Amino acid sequence: MIKKGIILAGGMGTRMSPLTKAVNKQLLPIYDKPLIYYPLSILMLAKIRDILIIVNKGQLSQYKKLFINEKNLGIKISFKEQPSPKGLPDAFILGEKFIDNSNVALILGDNFFYGQSLSKLLHNSAKLKHGAKIVLHSVKNPELFGVAKINEKNKKILKIVEKPKKFISNFAITGLYFFDKKVVHFAKKLKPSKRGELEIIDLINQYKKSNKLSAEYIGRGGAWLDTGSISDYYKTSAFVQAVENRQGFKIACLEEIALSNGWINKKNILDAIKFYGNCEYSAYLKKLI
Ligand code: TTP
Repeated sequence: MIKKGIILAGGMGTRMSPLTKAVNKQLLPIYDKPLIYYPLSILMLAKIRDILIIVNKGQLSQYKKLFINEKNLGIKISFKEQPSPKGLPDAFILGEKFIDNSNVALILGDNFFYGQSLSKLLHNSAKLKHGAKIVLHSVKNPELFGVAKINEKNKKILKIVEKPKKFISNFAITGLYFFDKKVVHFAKKLKPSKRGELEIIDLINQYKKSNKLSAEYIGRGGAWLDTGSISDYYKTSAFVQAVENRQGFKIACLEEIALSNGWINKKNILDAIKFYGNCEYSAYLKKLI
């Protein structure tokens, strides 16, 4: 089982400026909680408890304020500053010590996933022993994403292309990846692309070349939403509000996941309530116990 996970939560957040001038994008709210709760909840649902959060230089103290009580989540959080955004594979170079020759999951700090079969998908993916696994989701506008061409019969990946100008498939590569321990070695071999960044597509292609790449699929009942532009960001917030208010269940309540994983107890929930103070999130936690 993969036991370690990285959340890449730096970046410039240029598309969301001026909102992101003083506050990191991942600390802005998606409806009732900070954006970073959503990718963190995905790692926790995959039963990953050892987590590295990579943040921008100078933003560590903001994150530490939020995760001061990691024991109430039953997980271990480490932090690493990224001096400047060098591209997604930089996560593995910066995280080499944390990874410590293990298999590792990576989730982008601004990615939102939701859907009924998600936990099963995550459990399957976390079982990865060798190679790499990507998570695919059908999109209307594949020309904006990294895309995988698939053999419809055996679901094997034939080709992956970044922002294809000519249509190859609707399957976009989401911001959730599972790699074996060779990932650090491969990441170190990458050269920056024309836009001056290390590219995740190039890293995934290293695995593709040696036939070590597989995929999981989020079906039509699942959602993978983007939070990178102002408009998408507010759409995601509205989605969370609609689902939560209809069902009465919260999406990405970290303490709820930790409790159901058996990682924390009633006392941790009471501590968490004290930490959050008198708010709707605390009222929800109170109902759990
Ligand atoms: P991007 O969407 O590529 O970049 P961004 O969030 O800075 O936004 P913009 O394009 O508007 O400037 O990044 C995807 C995620 O990965 C996001 O959560 C930020 C994070 N990231 C890093 O932490 N370090 C990096 O070097 C890069 C490229 C991204």
